[in-house]
Amino acid sequence: MTHLISPSLLSADFGNLQKDIEMINQSEADWFHLDIMDGVFVPNISFGFPIIKFVKKHAKKPLDVHLMIVDPDRYIEDFQKAGADLLTVHYEACNHLHRTIQNIKSKGMKAGVSLNPHTPVHLLKDVIADLDLVLIMSVNPGFGGQKFILNTIEKIKELKELIVKKKSNALIEVDGGVDNTNAKMLIEAGCDALVAGSYIFGSGNKLETIKSLKSLSNL
Ligand code: DX5
Ligand code: ZN
Repeated sequence: MTHLISPSLLSADFGNLQKDIEMINQSEADWFHLDIMDGVFVPNISFGFPIIKFVKKHAKKPLDVHLMIVDPDRYIEDFQKAGADLLTVHYEACNHLHRTIQNIKSKGMKAGVSLNPHTPVHLLKDVIADLDLVLIMSVNPGFGGQKFILNTIEKIKELKELIVKKKSNALIEVDGGVDNTNAKMLIEAGCDALVAGSYIFGSGNKLETIKSLKSLSNL
């Protein structure tokens, strides 16, 4: 399987969101990455259900929804109704992670768990077989445009080993500061999906930037 690209809409133009959604539809990207922040789990607030529903209405690709919120169980059904195909919660935000994962799957969505930069991979040992995706944060969550944390590469290698050992089907996704200086390294380390926000939306030619991340050529 070739790696997947999930452009983060956090860096899109919210004054003309439909244009950026159409751009992603036409691009070689695979998913739409939507960052949901509650101002409690992370020091920022992003957007909620009306925007997700709007994206779902126009998107021709799956919605990869990244919840940076405390106690996400309260809203799992709402995210499913809003159009999430893949729902990722934070390890650090769940007291009963196993139950949360089962709840997500019972609503027909793929289940992901995200790890902050300080959270070690081995903590997923007992749930990795149940997961569809692990999202490794390569910045502290909350904002786009931050600097990539290099230790992420080691974490991805360790996670890949755990996935193989536990015969899990989980994909590895990385999020934060992904650009042409680290994309190849991430794929070589075992990454299956790259999230990129400011690198794509801050570039002159977004379609070409997505294409280069997808092919990893001309990076
Ligand atoms: C950060 C978010 C990311 C963010 C990535 O908390 O989870 O998805 O949009 O943005 P860049 O690619 O600019 O680091
Ligand atoms: Zn994200």
